[in-house]
Amino acid sequence: MRHIPVLITEVLEALALEPNHHVIDGTLGDAGHSEAILERTAPNGALLGIDADPESLLRAKQNLYRFGDRVRYSRGNFADMKKIAETEQFGPVNGILLDLGWSSPQFAERGRGFSFEKDEPLDMRYNPDFVGGAQLTAATIVNSYSTDELAQVFKQLGEEPLSREIAQAIVAKRKETLLKTTKDLVDVILTVYRAKLKSTKEIPWIGGIHPATRVFQALRIAANRELEVLKEVLPQAIDILAPGGRLVVITFHSLEDRIVKHFFQKEALTKKVKMVNKKPLVASEAEVSSNPRARSAKLRAVEKV
Ligand SMILES: C[S@@+](CC[C@H](N)C(=O)[O-])C[C@H]1O[C@@H](n2cnc3c(N)ncnc32)[C@H](O)[C@@H]1O
Repeated sequence: MRHIPVLITEVLEALALEPNHHVIDGTLGDAGHSEAILERTAPNGALLGIDADPESLLRAKQNLYRFGDRVRYSRGNFADMKKIAETEQFGPVNGILLDLGWSSPQFAERGRGFSFEKDEPLDMRYNPDFVGGAQLTAATIVNSYSTDELAQVFKQLGEEPLSREIAQAIVAKRKETLLKTTKDLVDVILTVYRAKLKSTKEIPWIGGIHPATRVFQALRIAANRELEVLKEVLPQAIDILAPGGRLVVITFHSLEDRIVKHFFQKEALTKKVKMVNKKPLVASEAEVSSNPRARSAKLRAVEKV
């Protein structure tokens, strides 16, 4: 399975690419966006691809093989983008792309516990071996945080309505045995929801959404410090860009989008950047029907003054 890049036409347009431009893809993934960027910047455009996940980098190298030394790869966290670009002596930078979150093969194939539909170890890190990345696993969080801390993570990062009840049930469960797998966690969440909804259904779906969705989102965001690294990379990206260069960010939930929106507004007020679009771009109905992941995607872009 190859990840389907979202909003690809919109990304290329927002980056305003020209032949021979230099672009940083901070979330290389399966390199669908990067491939299109390299085609647009032919014949001599260069791309610096960053990813925290070693398997993403391997896959990207295969997918971008034909572009040879036009591509440089860096295994790292995009929170270190400025340092990585300096080390690689990569510039002048005409465009930067961040397509946040997980790629489809990470979710479906990596065995790192991103999906509540599988029984896998509760890991959820993009970077599984600590190199410049997250130290916390989802298992560490659920097995060591207090009830209050867990409730706060589920509420703030997952907007989970039963955050306290689920936190209490996790703490009660781990007194018997630690939660090691996604199934251990899903069982606790389903028990809480069944009791609350007085349901006997195996999965008491809530408006088409699996009851574990929000808790899993919250744990993934916490394990990878997703909101913090986003706040760290945005000013670096503006700093690195050459005048006239574009920064394009695709987010998948309101917590991320709010951070990007407020940062862009602040920078526009001080005339460091100008907005490329007044409103965030979203996927067309046709794209959403062929790629459900595009449903929640929002694209915002600025141009460095
Ligand atoms: C949505 S996917 C990108 C998909 C890519 N645009 C494509 O077309 O295939 C996001 C990628 O970013 C990586 N990632 C997420 N957070 C990261 C971070 N803080 N630093 C570096 N890579 C990160 C993930 O490992 C994943 O491979």
